[in-house]
Formats: sequence, structure tokens, C-alpha cells
Amino acid sequence: MSARPTTVAEIFPDPPAGLDPSALDTDAIPSHVAIIMDGNGRWAKARGLERGEGHKAGIRAVREAITTCNDIGVRYMTIYSFSTENWKRPEVEVTGLMELFAKTMLKEVDGLNDERVRVKLLGDIDALPAVTRRVFRQAEKLTANNTGMTLAIAVNYGARQEIMRSARIYAQDCLERAKQGLEPQDLDEELFAQGLYTADMPDPDLCIRTSGELRISNFLLWQLAYSEFYVSDVLWPDFDRYELLRALLAFQKRERRFGEVR
Ligand code: IPE
Ligand code: IPE
Ligand code: MG
Repeated sequence: MSARPTTVAEIFPDPPAGLDPSALDTDAIPSHVAIIMDGNGRWAKARGLERGEGHKAGIRAVREAITTCNDIGVRYMTIYSFSTENWKRPEVEVTGLMELFAKTMLKEVDGLNDERVRVKLLGDIDALPAVTRRVFRQAEKLTANNTGMTLAIAVNYGARQEIMRSARIYAQDCLERAKQGLEPQDLDEELFAQGLYTADMPDPDLCIRTSGELRISNFLLWQLAYSEFYVSDVLWPDFDRYELLRALLAFQKRERRFGEVR
């Protein structure tokens, strides 16, 4: 296992002018960072390339973001990789993305394992093409006992579908456990959250969206209730560790109130 950089100066060795990594408070790193990685298509279009080239370029960005988050001490990172609505895209793009996911995971899984990253999948994984499903499941299994950052990959993920799924799980439990006295009114937030894909994860502290779009696009509707939002105008393939640092610094300036008076 390679020695990981540990200081902020090592993790952000070459900051652009005006960005000071030492301003980062390493005792106040968000525990869970969720990212809506958006803008691959526009990045490609601006260069006269096919959309698929934008997705490939986006892989570089996501690999850098994962290592940076892990090194800086983020405990959970969720990356929105493919939504339940993204199936509506042209077939060539969807097929290309599924192949890119499988190829990338095959190539990166050992490195992630070396970095002690634990891969977790969020979404309807059974409905993915067989190869992609198998490679993702293998990565989840291989890294299951790692103690570094949990990397949750939201793929074929939709928050409404996830919420519906939890409701169905509870309804089924009520039917099956009727004799033990489980009633609809026993359902509380904690129990409901156990039926979500994120059951063993804390809610995101920070949600980043790239490419300037101001919407949630069916991502973690339940879990983002009190997350801080940071929108970057940068297109995802251009989002490097310094853009991530900007997001972390902005997060550290926020005052979180959770509905209280402070
Ligand atoms: C995000 O980039 C990647 C996925 C949704 C898979 P887009 O492909 O949405 O890029 P834009 O929004 O069209 O630029
Ligand atoms: C959200 O981006 C989904 C992912 C990043 C995987 P989209 O590009 O699909 O969202 P919309 O269509 O702009 O809302
Ligand atoms: Mg988009």
C-alpha cells in the first residue's frame, strides 16, 4: 500500500493563485460529501466531441475527487453516476456509459482497495447490464471490510424509487409481522430510513453539484433534508482537487441551524 499524503499542503500541493489550502480546518471536514457530477456532455460539446468523450474525461475527475476526499478525512462520499431517468438518453450513450462504468471499475478496484476505500452501491443494481452489475458487485465484495472512506456509487438510482421501495418493505413487514403486532403507526423516521439504500450511512453534510444547475434531479431526496448545497459553475471533467477545496472552504463558512435559533 502506497503512503498517502497526510497534510493539507501535501494533498493540495499546487494551488492556483488566491486559493489557500491552509485555510482549511482539518477538524471540520464534512463527514459525508455527496456529488451530482454534471456537465460531461457540455464539456464534450464545447470541444466538438461526442458526449461519450465527456464521460470519459469525467472519470479522471471522479478518480481525483475520491482520493482527495479519502486523504482529507471525508468518511462517506456519494457520487451520482446514473439516474433512473438517464435510461431515456440515446441508446449509444447509455450503452457507452455502462461499458465505461464496468471498464473503469475493473481498472480502479485494486487501487481503491489499496486506499482502503469501501465501495457501496446505491440503486437498482439488479437492473444493470450483466457485466456492469457483476463488476460493481465484485468491487463491493472485495472492499467490504475496508476501513477508509465509504464510496457510495449511486447508479440506476432515483430517490423517489428508493423512497417507494422503503415504503413497500415496511408494508410487507407489517403484513408478515402482523401476528407480532407490527402496525403502520409504528413507522418512524428511523425505521423508514432503514429501508433506504443508505441505511447504514449518515446524511450528507455537503452536496456539491457541478455545471451550474440548480436542481436535485431525483438525488437523495430524503437524506438531503439539512445538507448544505454548493453549486460550482465548473463542468464535471474540469472539477479538480482545487475545486473540491473551494467547496470545502465554502462549507466551513456556513452556519448550520437545523431549524433552531442560534
Ligand atoms: C453528467 O453529465 C453525467 C451523467 C448524467 C451520466 P451529463 O451527461 O448530464 O452532461 P450535460 O448535463 O449534458 O452537460
Ligand atoms: C443528474 O444529472 C444525474 C447524474 C449526475 C447522474 P442529469 O444531467 O441527468 O440531470 P438533469 O437532466 O439535468 O436534471
Ligand atoms: Mg446533465
